[in-house]
Amino acid sequence: MSKSGALDLVSGVGGRIEKKEVLPAVQKYEKYHVCHGGNEEEMKANYSDMVNKYYDLVTSFYEYGWGESFHFAPRWKEESLRESIKRHEHFLALQLGLKKGQKVLDVGCGIGGPLREIARFSGAFVTGLNNNEYQISRGEELNRIRGINNSCTYVKADFMRMPFSDNTFDAIFAIEATCHAPNQVICENDLAVDSPLPWYLPLDKNHFSPSNFRVTAVGRFITRNMVKVLEFLGLAPEGSQRVQHFLENAADALVEGGRKGIFTPMYFFLARKPIL
Ligand SMILES: C[S@@+](CC[C@H](N)C(=O)[O-])C[C@H]1O[C@@H](n2cnc3c(N)ncnc32)[C@H](O)[C@@H]1O
Repeated sequence: MSKSGALDLVSGVGGRIEKKEVLPAVQKYEKYHVCHGGNEEEMKANYSDMVNKYYDLVTSFYEYGWGESFHFAPRWKEESLRESIKRHEHFLALQLGLKKGQKVLDVGCGIGGPLREIARFSGAFVTGLNNNEYQISRGEELNRIRGINNSCTYVKADFMRMPFSDNTFDAIFAIEATCHAPNQVICENDLAVDSPLPWYLPLDKNHFSPSNFRVTAVGRFITRNMVKVLEFLGLAPEGSQRVQHFLENAADALVEGGRKGIFTPMYFFLARKPIL
């Protein structure tokens, strides 16, 4: 079943990290950042450890607050966040011209929200590539729950060293994952420009939305205090509040970046392999 309850949230903090190791992991993760004394070279050299720690720590918060797909989407005024996310996934499947029986790779697949939707929508067989063990185990559990194990699978590997031979897949997509690559990625088109509602609206604490209550100011206040109490009672690992805190900071920074037009998560690019 979907892990959307408070206890699911706090019991999932840390992913595959031992509960007593959560706080040291938070401290190590924070230290990678310049504002906590880290430097860019160290971050690049240790990108795999940094990104894995991050997703071990935040995955249950993402699932609790956002759902099974961990990405933004262009959104119409009458649309809910969930609907806009699904529509964006259908858009990607249509852009790739996916057909029943094709083999598709989702690079940096999270817990598989997009790949399940795209497999169902297109009939294609989708493999999710992910370097995070906890997300893969959660993705496998959700595939089983949704009864979709026959059309999706996962491979644990670093997308900087893909373990596939040439021509394994008919199409490949990546949603908000290659931003974690230590090398620069060239992008083509910002879908956020034409979105009637700004992509960062669900994260804006000044915007109230009953359908997206958990990420509003009141929702965050409730989550913050709930995590505090559950950590105090020992039901959530020590460090859980710190994870909630850096996610709130990230949400505020994303909203500010979106407002100033200096950041977008909505860059879309489509590539075709040259015919040899
Ligand atoms: C923001 S999440 C997006 C997940 C998914 N595309 C979605 O939209 O639900 C980024 C994902 O990229 C994965 N990732 C980051 N760096 C990776 C790497 N070097 N190799 C494989 N996966 C990676 C993370 O583990 C995470 O699942």
